[in-house]
Amino acid sequence: MNAAAIQLAFEAAFGETPAVVARAPGRVNLLGEHVDYNQGLALPCAIDRSSWIAVGASYEPVCRLYSVDFDAWASFDPAPSAASVGDESSWARYPAGVAWAFRAAGQPLDPFRAVLSSEVPIGAGLSSSAAIEVGFALALQHLFGTSFEPLALARLCQQAENDFVGVHCGLMDQWTSVSAEARHALLLDFEDLSSQLVPLPDDLAIVVADTGVRRALAASAYNERVGECREAVRRLHQEEPEITSLRSVPPDSFERISRVLPEPIRSRARHVVEEINRVRAGARLLAEGETDAFGRLMTEAHLSLRDLYAVSGPELEAMVDAALDLPGCLGTRLTGAGFGGSTVSLVRRSSAEDFVSQLKDGYQARTGRTADVWICRAEQGAQILEAA
Ligand code: GLA
Repeated sequence: MNAAAIQLAFEAAFGETPAVVARAPGRVNLLGEHVDYNQGLALPCAIDRSSWIAVGASYEPVCRLYSVDFDAWASFDPAPSAASVGDESSWARYPAGVAWAFRAAGQPLDPFRAVLSSEVPIGAGLSSSAAIEVGFALALQHLFGTSFEPLALARLCQQAENDFVGVHCGLMDQWTSVSAEARHALLLDFEDLSSQLVPLPDDLAIVVADTGVRRALAASAYNERVGECREAVRRLHQEEPEITSLRSVPPDSFERISRVLPEPIRSRARHVVEEINRVRAGARLLAEGETDAFGRLMTEAHLSLRDLYAVSGPELEAMVDAALDLPGCLGTRLTGAGFGGSTVSLVRRSSAEDFVSQLKDGYQARTGRTADVWICRAEQGAQILEAA
């Protein structure tokens, strides 16, 4: 897909040229998983797969949308309620959520028409929903002349997902899709909402491997983890009032402080506290060129996600197992929420092509499944490509 193709699709659907075309990327997270909703730190970058969105004003009182990928139409009121945008056309819940969030932020929208298509695989842990939300938010902001700061736009999209779609996600995916830069990772701090660009070394390749497995009920399992973390903070705060988030738990006192927590809440909290520490160390290692040590932290993070946070699964394990001993692999782990989806591996560039084909073979030998594996370019964040 590209700007010309989505423009053509809009013309075919509506018989006129769109006013605005936007692109917004998915993301892959190198380190810092399930910490964004705990005021932690994460180190994601945008991927070279994006959602593409063309919009124009509508001459009808409703918003009308066409999805190229599903070859399906949807329409909703410009002031939609979650109940009115049903499950059947669930892809429309994301753009409708964005329209709803504009209104909630005091910027109600006029009716619009849109065509969308996305290269980010759905449910693969690569932020397909954030790519759509951010693409729509940026396109609509240009169409209607509103001007949110980048971080405010990301938060508006997060609110769409939290309060309209019903997934209690953190801010990582939307923030990355808005703010990423090519050839860089972003060190995101979810406590003070600061961010820092971290250059990715040229001699390393980021390899993304989609297991092809999508877990039913992944959204409710995700919300359950968010609830477990909240419960951990509630109990810890009762004991030590200065603890207001898992970020505020000093890692070296975790052992003592966490005795009041029952399992599995204690394990969940341990993952979060240690993972935040890994990101701190990892960002430093990457800046110092200590890439082998950074890779080891990635693999350590995977084991923690598997054993303490319990968000891995047999196919993710097969993919990690297949990657671990391949030449040039510095580290490998599940990325995103887990429960199926994708892994990310850090690989020496000189070995990357071989790594990709051997990983596919190794995964197929272990599971009988075909995986989509590619060397990923860290992309620029969302952008407007054409505005009338
Ligand atoms: C999903 C959520 C993010 C984040 C990750 C796990 O991608 O949307 O906010 O919590 O899972 O790190």
